Amino acid sequence: MIERIVIVGAGQAAAQAVDVLRRRRFEGSIALVGDEPFLPYQRPPLSKKYFSGTLARDRLPIRHQSFYDEHRVDVRLGRRAVSIDRAARQVALDDGVALPYDALILATGSTPRRLQGPGTTLQGLHYLRTIEDTDRLREAARPGARAVVVGGGYIGLEVAATCRELGVEVTVLEMADRVMNRVVCETVSRYYEAEHRRHGVELVLGARMEAFVGDAAGRVAAVRCADGREYRADFAVIGIGVLAQDALARAAGLHCDNGIAVDEHCRTSDPAIWAIGDCTSHPSLRYGYRVRLESVDNAFEQAGTAALDILGTPVPHDKVPWFWSDQYHHKLLIVGLSQGHDEVVLRGDPATHGFSCAYLRDGELIAIDTVNSAKDQMAARKLVAARVRPDRARLADPAVPLKECVPA
Ligand code: NAI
Repeated sequence: MIERIVIVGAGQAAAQAVDVLRRRRFEGSIALVGDEPFLPYQRPPLSKKYFSGTLARDRLPIRHQSFYDEHRVDVRLGRRAVSIDRAARQVALDDGVALPYDALILATGSTPRRLQGPGTTLQGLHYLRTIEDTDRLREAARPGARAVVVGGGYIGLEVAATCRELGVEVTVLEMADRVMNRVVCETVSRYYEAEHRRHGVELVLGARMEAFVGDAAGRVAAVRCADGREYRADFAVIGIGVLAQDALARAAGLHCDNGIAVDEHCRTSDPAIWAIGDCTSHPSLRYGYRVRLESVDNAFEQAGTAALDILGTPVPHDKVPWFWSDQYHHKLLIVGLSQGHDEVVLRGDPATHGFSCAYLRDGELIAIDTVNSAKDQMAARKLVAARVRPDRARLADPAVPLKECVPA
C-alpha cells in the first residue's frame, strides 16, 4: 500500500506528478523537495521573454502556493536531498531531516555542461538554467554591451536572439559546421544562421575556442579561438549542452545509462523508485532505442506515466516527443526524433519563411521540423504517431496539405 510519496526535484516534471497524483485521487502524503528557493516554474521563458523583461517573474510558477496548500503537499524548498537509504526507504535532506517513502520519484533534471580550460573562472561568464541565472544575465545584457555566446544550440541561439532585441552586440561561436546540428537538418540550420546574421549576429562556425581572456580586474574581456582570433566580450554565455543530474541515483546504486535508466513506466532498477524528466533515459518503443530527452513535453508525459504506475494503473509511455524553439519571431517545432533518417523531404521554400522538413526512414515518416508553419504543425504529430508512409511527390508539394500526403 503506497501512502507516502516523496518527490525529489521541483521542476516541471515534479509539478505535473503532483497534479496527476491528486487528480487521480491519491489521498496519501506527498513531499516535494527542491534545492532552488522557488516553487516549480517554467524554464522556457528564461532564455526568451523572462530574459527580455516582457514576462514578469510572478508568471513563471507552474502553480502558485495555494495549489500546493489545497493539495496538501509538504513543499521543502531550498533543500537538497543528499542520500537515499533504499533499505529503510528514506531520503536524507541537507538539513538533517529524513523523509520516509513508500514511493520515491526522482525528478532531478539536468545541469549545464561546464567549460573547462583557461579563463573559465573569470567574472562575467554565464550559464543558463535557473531564474537566478537569468537575473544575473539580464544585469549584464545592457544595450551596447558585447556578448560572446559559446554554443549555437537552443540556449545559445535563443539567448543571442533576445540579446539582439535588448540591443546587445553578439558573437556566437559554434564548434560544429552548422547551428542546432544535434536536432535539425542542414536546411533548417542554414535558415536560422541566415536569420541570425540578418539580425546582426556575428556567427562563427567551426569555432575552436581556446581561452577566455581577462582584464586586470579578473573579468572576461575577450574570447580567443585556436586560429588566433579574439572576440571582445563584456560578458559570455555558455550553452554547450546539459548533463543528467543522476548523482543521487548513482550514489544509491540505481542503474544509470546516460541518465537514470527507467523502463516505459518510468520504473528504475528499484521497485520503490521512479524517475521522470531530463534526468532519465528510457526505451523508446516507437524508435527502438534508448533516449534521454531534454524537453518540457517529456517531463510532462513521464510525470503522468510514473504517477499512473504508482497508483496501480500503468500506461506505457510512448508518445511522439516534440520540442520547440522561439528565435526572433520564428517558431520552430520539432516533432519526433530524426536520428537514423535516410531521406529528408523539403516542403516549401525557406525564402518564404514558412517551410517544413520531413524525415523518412525506409519510407516511414519518423519526424518533421516545421518553421513558421502552423498548418503542418497540427498534422505532423498525428502522422508521425501513425507511422505513415507518405507519397514523396505529394509530401514535397506544400500546396498539398500534410495530412493528404498519405496514400489511402
Ligand atoms: P544543445 O545541445 O542544444 O546545443 C549545444 C551546442 O553547443 C551544440 O550546437 C554544440 O555543437 C555546441 N558546442 C558544444 N561544445 C562546444 C564548444 N566547446 N564550443 C562551441 N560550441 C560547442 O544544448 P544547449 O543549447 O546548451 O541547451 C541545453 C538544453 O536546454 C536543451 O537540451 C534543452 O533541455 C534546454 N533548452 C530547450 C529549449 C527549447 O526546447 N526551446 C530552449 C533552450 C534550452
